[in-house]
Order: sequence, then structure tokens, then C-alpha cells
Amino acid sequence: MATEEHKRLSDIVKGTHAFLRAEAQQYGAEAAWERHVSRGDVLQKYAASMRELATKCWTENYLNPKNDTYCRMEWIKTQCKEYFLNGGKEKYDERERNISTKISSGESSSENFQIFNDSHGYVENKLQNIYGRRVSLLDVGSCYNPLGNEDEFNVTAIDLTPATSAVLRCDFLNVMIGEKEIRSQDKREFRQLAVNSFDVVVFSLLLEYLPCPRQRYICCRNAYNVLKSAGVLIIVSPDSKHVGANTKLIKSWRYTLSKLGFMRIKYEKLRHIHCLVFRKCACKNVATRWADLQHFTQDEEKYISDREIFIPQDFPNICSKGKQENNIYKYDESDLINTFSELPFDKAF
Ligand SMILES: C[S@@+](CC[C@H](N)C(=O)[O-])C[C@H]1O[C@@H](n2cnc3c(N)ncnc32)[C@H](O)[C@@H]1O
Repeated sequence: MATEEHKRLSDIVKGTHAFLRAEAQQYGAEAAWERHVSRGDVLQKYAASMRELATKCWTENYLNPKNDTYCRMEWIKTQCKEYFLNGGKEKYDERERNISTKISSGESSSENFQIFNDSHGYVENKLQNIYGRRVSLLDVGSCYNPLGNEDEFNVTAIDLTPATSAVLRCDFLNVMIGEKEIRSQDKREFRQLAVNSFDVVVFSLLLEYLPCPRQRYICCRNAYNVLKSAGVLIIVSPDSKHVGANTKLIKSWRYTLSKLGFMRIKYEKLRHIHCLVFRKCACKNVATRWADLQHFTQDEEKYISDREIFIPQDFPNICSKGKQENNIYKYDESDLINTFSELPFDKAF
């Protein structure tokens, strides 16, 4: 059984999400976000509660395969190692090169291959052997730096409100991205992140925190910009429903991210979470090709957007009603209260 303490902590987390969503409806997403980030005490309480939940409550019985909220970190580490240390990257370099050659057939393929090599950094990437150095990983919304204990990774952990000193302050939604990294005087906060500077960006339970689809998109776009060519964005998103229940949304993510220049290279549905890996293609038209080849049914069209990332909470009664035109950002009361509730916050494993 979940303890009283466990329930208290999950109520704080769920309550913070619900309050932010309610304010986004009332004031609009941007104004709500400004209000949210100015509430230091609320954010501190959230950070401490989230840390307690994740490091104490969710780790109980972690060998139980049903406990995949804990396993998400292991899943992320495994994907990074498979990709960067066990030949995954080379496999997808090759796949991308083949697709690029196909795209260019009909034109002078050697000319296009040259474009692929030169302007998208493919050759440069090949020469810059990943095996000689640690994988640079940006953990966005890290909270308590759960990925910081691996020798193979050089982790930069950032959060709106760090729960430990290993995590630096940064609002990834509003951070500038420029030629080089800029920190505050005390070095505890990022003012600017450097473009093309990370091998991996991780969003673990991050996107659901953001109340509006456009904000989620901006975070994905920022991830694209800070990733090196052929780097990967890893997304873990809570959903306790069966694998088919939100297929349309997962497909819409793939579409939106393809348009940005990402190729989806891995998708797994665990019991309580979706786990996805997207590669920043060296050649953007290899990524956009997938989106361009798609034909959507009328029902699927409702979830397709070039510049928004939707989650089930955006669509109350998603299965029965679908998107309701002027009602898309409205959440019903129970949905607000149940944000995250399908995760095993309240359940014993
Ligand atoms: C549900 S917690 C997930 C913590 C951790 N990644 C995990 O999987 O256990 C979401 C975290 O994202 C952080 N966050 C939300 N929006 C953010 C933003 N725009 N920039 C940085 N961190 C953000 C929150 O402060 C919170 O710590």
C-alpha cells in the first residue's frame, strides 16, 4: 500500500501541475508560465517532493518489472549506450546515407551526396570518433540528477528549480541558444546554451509539465538546436493506457518531430510510460521525407500540427470526442486533478 507520505508527496506534484494548467486556461500559457516561475516557494516544494517520490517511493521493489517509472532511467542509459557505444549510431548513419541517396536519385547523386557530407556535418561527425570521449548529455527537467552517476556520460543537468546542487538552473522554454554557453556570475544558472553542443538531450516526464502544446514544441525545437548532428532526443512520457490507446498522438509526435528534422529510431511502450528516441538527422530532408509521405485519416488529422506537441490531457475524452474546435486547450475538472494520476504514484507495486 502507498504510505500517507507517498500520497502527500504525489498530491503536491499533481496539485502543482493542475494549478499551472488551470492558470494557463485562465491567463493564457505565457502569462501563466511567468506567474508559475515567479513562485519560488511552490517550485521548491515541488522539487523536494518530486525528488523524494522518485528516489524513495518509486525505488521500492524496483526489481519488479511493473515498476517502470523507476526503470525509465535504466532504459535511457541503455539507449545511449546502444547508440553511441554499441554501433547504433553507425547503423543509422548508414541508413540515413541510403535514404539520402534514394532521395537524390534522378538528380546527380554524387552531387547530393556531397551536400549531405559537407553541409550537414556527416563527414565531420564520422571523423570525430565518439569512442574517445564521454557522451555529452543534457538532462532537461532533471530535478535531482538521476543520470549523473554513469562514467560514460558527461551529464549537464538542468531544471527550473534544482532539487540538488548537481543540477543547474535553466528554463529550457525560454533559454537563449547561441554560439557559446553563458552562465550567471555564480555559475549556477544557464543564461544561454550552445548550439550543436550535446550528443543527447533527455526529456523524462518533462513534456507533461508544460500546459500547452506550443510550449512543448518549443522545447523540442530547442532540443534540436542544442543537439549535434546525429545526436538523439530521448523522450519518456507517462501513459498507463494500453499501447494502442494513444497511437494517434504518438504518430503526431513523430510527424511534428520529423518536420523539425528528427528521425524516430526507437519506440517502446512500457506499462506506464512511452519511451522514444529521435535522431537529429545529418540531412534534414531525410527526416522530413517520412512526414511528407504520410497520409492521415480525417480522425488523425485532428492531432497533426507542424508546431505543436499534443498529449492526452489536451483532449478530454480523447477516444470518444477527439479534438473540439475551440475547446482544444480546455481540460475538464477530473482531467486537471488526474494529471499524472495514471502513473503509479498512488499504487503499491
Ligand atoms: C515530473 S518532473 C521529472 C523529473 C525527472 N526528469 C524524472 O524523470 O524523475 C519534471 C521536471 O521538469 C522541470 N521543468 C519543467 N519545465 C521546465 C523547463 N521549462 N525548464 C527546465 N525544467 C523544467 C520541473 O521543474 C520538474 O523538476
